[in-house]
Amino acid sequence: MGDKELILEAIEARKNAYTPYSHFQVGAALEGAGGAVYRGCNIENAAYTPSNCAERTAFFKAVSEGERSFRRIAIVAGPEGEKLIHTAPCGVCRQVMMEFCDPDAFRILLATGPDDYRTYTLRQLLPEGFGPDNL
Ligand code: THU
Repeated sequence: MGDKELILEAIEARKNAYTPYSHFQVGAALEGAGGAVYRGCNIENAAYTPSNCAERTAFFKAVSEGERSFRRIAIVAGPEGEKLIHTAPCGVCRQVMMEFCDPDAFRILLATGPDDYRTYTLRQLLPEGFGPDNL
């Protein structure tokens, strides 16, 4: 699967975002080392704190299915009913990525559509990150 197809998966994932409080909708598509794709959306909660980001939804789905190795994640985001805007993952999600991904190899695609995206490595978005290799 190419970058464009992974971004289209993230756009599909965003359709399930549950965002009655922020109305900010995020979709993610995470590619495992074998090519499997795990979709995630943000899921909010009336108590606010239990809300989960799209990226972590995708990671936790994947890990719960036995996947431990990842190549790329595509992320799309924007206010409900408005156009997509390039949105970088929050710090907590970057830390979850650090647990399971090689920071120099894992690619993070911040997209507004299949033909408009910016690519970063996890190392670029989480420099000097703390991970399993530090223990
Ligand atoms: N959110 C994500 O799902 N991913 C991000 O990278 C940033 C923020 C969600 C959390 C919350 O549901 C909404 O966007 C507003 O913060």
